[in-house]
Order: sequence, then structure tokens, then C-alpha cells
Amino acid sequence: MVQCTSIKVSEGWQQTEVLLVRLGQCIIGLAVLLTIAGCGAQKAEFNNREDINVLIPEAQDHVREVLATHFGQPTRMVLWERMPVHYHGASGVFAENAATAGKTLSKLNVTLTEENLPIEEGQELAWISGKYLGQPNPHVVSFDATASQVGIEPGLAEPPGAGDRFAIAPGEVLIHGRILYAEHCQHCHGVSGDGNGPTAKYLNPRPRDYRLGKFKFKSTSSSAKATRDDLSRIIEEGIPGTYMPSFKLLKEEENRAIVEYVRWLAMRGEVEFKLIQALKNDYSNEAVASQVASARESDSTLSASAAREKVVADLNEYLTGDWQEEFNDDTKFQAEQWVQAEEPSALVIPKLARVPDTPESRAHGRELYLSAKAKCATCHGDSGLGDGSQTLSVQKNPATNADYDTPGLFDDWGNPVKPRNLTRGIYRGGRRPLDLYRRIHAGISGTPMPAFGTVLKDEEIWDIVNYVMNIPFEARDRQPGSGAGTSGAGAPEVATTR
Ligand code: HEC
Ligand code: HEC
Repeated sequence: MVQCTSIKVSEGWQQTEVLLVRLGQCIIGLAVLLTIAGCGAQKAEFNNREDINVLIPEAQDHVREVLATHFGQPTRMVLWERMPVHYHGASGVFAENAATAGKTLSKLNVTLTEENLPIEEGQELAWISGKYLGQPNPHVVSFDATASQVGIEPGLAEPPGAGDRFAIAPGEVLIHGRILYAEHCQHCHGVSGDGNGPTAKYLNPRPRDYRLGKFKFKSTSSSAKATRDDLSRIIEEGIPGTYMPSFKLLKEEENRAIVEYVRWLAMRGEVEFKLIQALKNDYSNEAVASQVASARESDSTLSASAAREKVVADLNEYLTGDWQEEFNDDTKFQAEQWVQAEEPSALVIPKLARVPDTPESRAHGRELYLSAKAKCATCHGDSGLGDGSQTLSVQKNPATNADYDTPGLFDDWGNPVKPRNLTRGIYRGGRRPLDLYRRIHAGISGTPMPAFGTVLKDEEIWDIVNYVMNIPFEARDRQPGSGAGTSGAGAPEVATTR
């Protein structure tokens, strides 16, 4: 059953039409239709991954349909509540209300479950569930945070049911994020977050493709997702030594709205990636052709089209059967991973404070750096230039277990990646000692740089940090007339690599 209610939200910058869609009991979507007055030129649509083309057309249609149902398009977003994204200004549930006894109820006791933007007068209050779903929505006229009370106009003839769910400023956070993303990020990161905007082809490294749900420079353990704070920091600070700019001028609220939009794109991309992976084995053009061939081998009277029809019937049986549960489980798991990353236990926090940056500590760090235990030098080279032996040999692709075509390292997106030149002292994930500790402890997600948290003790990691932070000074010391003798902690003055 689908219930719809159409709400008009007037904003300074646009007029928004919001559709509340209720699908059965588990999926509650909020489809947002945008009519952007005056800037109709931009009609952004999501692209599909290129590898969707390996699937037979029937399987491709399924992938497109699932994405359309659960995510929609940039200008017709479906807010799938399963995914942990802050969609609204605020959302929550009605606490039990006193009976109205004939009076109009204009103050609602509420419990907020998620809050982002401030709750302000004039904002729409929309129902996500309950008996008022489908009726015209009131506006917020007052909010008392201490009493957890929202005043609304017009009032209600009778109280909503305890537990009925609502959103204030429905979809606003994501819409705000989308508009800012289109303005500031899209030309590099692309409409779909595929890292393939019009500017991307000129850049090395390439802008991040969010669609694997992986981010490199984060504060969490190696297999965990990035946190909201990680993404927010990247947007604020940029990535030194790359074309990823810093967006310090954005307001906190704007930064946070973009973070939600980037998460949403990443989640959509992951769903797409996994859908294609799941169908690839049996329903790629190649696999279907070979199923058709072997069916005809065992039954010579069978026509090619009849054999193909049989495979398509199998596909449909799978999609209406087992697939449903698999999709439910996979997306639940995916959503949980994003939630878990926000829990304090996901953070990489040293148990031991940084050991003093002494010559002994650095010397021990260098020993470890060169050792078979840490293997840093096999990638970063003996003197840290990023020219270790692994950059010269042919590596195996961990996803396919096949050799890469060319020697050197690659990241999970298939882009060649060089171990950092540590003599320059430019660190993409931040230059605090804690940042370097985290890079070593958790590795760099999506790249061959492994996690050392289980191999090295805290003290050893700090010794390596002390050593690595000193490499740029060592390198300078080796050059005659370059201010030899410079020592100490902190980052050196460096040119950018642009
Ligand atoms: C001029 C091009 C450009 C623009 C504009 C740009 N980026 Fe990036 N972005 C990059 C590049 C290049 C990288 C990859 C750097 C790397 O791999 O070290 C990147 C990486 C990222 C990452 C990945 C960080 C990680 O830990 O993996 C995020 C998140 C990101 N950008 C978000 C944004 C957002 C949000 C905006 C807009 C507010 C934006 N970028 C604008 C070029 C750009
Ligand atoms: C298998 C190869 C490999 C090994 C082993 C390796 N690294 Fe890396 N390292 C890389 C690659 C590749 C990058 C660049 C990743 C990127 O930005 O995409 C990197 C990046 C770095 C960075 C830069 C972080 C930043 O914020 O920019 C540091 C520091 C670093 N490695 C230190 C180490 C240390 C110390 C060790 C040993 C404990 C080590 N690496 C072992 C491949 C390796």
C-alpha cells in the first residue's frame, strides 16, 4: 500500500514539493520533488557504473529499478530511512499527549531521535507515520527544547498516537547538501559521486569515487567506515598535496549538510556495486551465453531463444524469491557499518601517549621502518622517497587474484598509487602525530598500505612516527648548504606538489 501526501515547503532559495511515501511497514520513503525556479538548466541524473553493461539487459533493468526505488535521482530524491543519513532538520516521535477533550491541540510533547538543523518557526512538520499521514501538515510556531514541546499551527483536533513519527523540515538537510555539492564538488566528484566530473580527467590523484563506500583518511579502525567528523574534516581542510581544495569558508551547517549528501551518494554507490556483483556470476552476458550453449548441448532440439528464456525465467524466480532476503540483509548490514563507525569504540585511539621524540626513539623507528616486520621500506624506499621494491614489481589484484598489467601498486579503484614520498613532509590525512599514528595503525583504506595495529606495539608505532616525521629534515640535512643541522619536531616548510 502506498500513501502519499503532498506538502509545499517555501524556502528562500527555492520551492520544494515533498512527497511522503509509505511503502508497507518496513520501508518508509520520502520522495522529494524539486522545482528549482530560475535554474532549470541543470538537470542532473545519476549514471550507472560502467560494469552494469556486463549484465544481460533484464538484470540491468533490475539494478536500475532498485536504485530508482530506494534512492531516486538527485532532483527527485527518495529518502530511504534504512540508511543512516540525517535527512531532515529534525525527526522524532510523539510522546504521549494529554487528551484534548474538545480543544485544539497546539503543543505536542515530542522526543527527538535525530537533530541537525535548528528547529525554527515556519518550518514544516510532516508525518512519517500515524493517523495524520496523508493530511495537510502544520507549521512549527514554537519550540521549547527543555520541555521537548513543539507548538504547531494549525492545531490538531485530537492527539496523534504515542509513537507516531514525524520530521521537521522534511528532506531539507539532504536538499541543502545536494545544492551545495552541485556548486562546490560535482565538477570533480561527479553527479553520482563516481569521481568522474568534467574536471576529473586532468587530475592526479583522481577525485575520490565514493561508490565503494571507502574513504582513505579516517580516524577509525582499518575495516570500519569513515565517520561524519572524518568527512567534515576533509571538506574543511582539503587534502594537502592534491587538488582536493579546502572549504573553510563554508558554514558549519553547510559542511554538515554536504557530509550527509556525500554519505548518501556513497551508500547509493555501494548498493549499486553490490547489486551488480551479486548478479554478475550467473547473469552476465558471458555467463548467460555459456548457460545457453550448455543447455543446447544437452538438448539439441532446444532453440537459442528458448534456452535464453529459461535463463531469464530463472533470473525472475531468483529476484522475486531469495534475492529479496539477500538484499534486505545486505543493506541492513551496510547501514549498520555506517552506524558502528560513529560509535566511540570504532576510533583508533593510542593506549599509550606519544613517546618522547628523542634520537633513540627515532633510531628505533628507523630500524623498524627497515625491518621485515614493518616492511615500510619495501614500499616507501630506504630513504623514504616512495621508491621501494614493491613499486617496481608486478603486484596481484586482491579482488581478482590476477596480476596487474603493469608493475607497481594500485588502489581499490584500479588507479595506480605511489607510496608517499616521505621526504616532503606532506601528509594527506593530516600532519598531527596522531594522524600518522592512525595511518600506520589502521593502514590506508582502499590502498595497499596495510594496517599495522596488530603487528606493532603502540610504542613501536610512536617510534616510527617520530622517525617518519623527521625524514624531511634528514633529507634536507643531507643536501649541502641547505641549513644543515635543522632538527626538531613539527612539519617543515614545503612546496605543494601541484
Ligand atoms: C578540484 C577538484 C576537487 C573538488 C572541487 C573537490 N574535490 Fe574532493 N577530492 C579531490 C581529489 C583529487 C581527491 C583525492 C585525493 C587523494 O586521493 O588523495 C578528493 C577526495 C575527496 C574525499 C575523500 C577523502 C578520503 O578520505 O578518502 C572526499 C570525502 C571529498 N574529496 C569530498 C569533497 C567534497 C564534499 C567537495 C565539495 C565540497 C570536494 N571534495 C571538492 C578533488 C576535488
Ligand atoms: C604495500 C606498500 C606499503 C607499505 C608496506 C607501507 N606503505 Fe605507507 N603508503 C603506501 C601507499 C600506496 C601510500 C599512499 C596511499 C594514498 O594516499 O593513496 C602510503 C602512504 C603513507 C603515508 C602518508 C600518509 C598521509 O597522510 O599522507 C605514510 C606516513 C606512510 N605511508 C607510512 C608508512 C609506514 C611508516 C609504513 C611501515 C610501518 C608503511 N607506510 C608501509 C604503501 C605502503
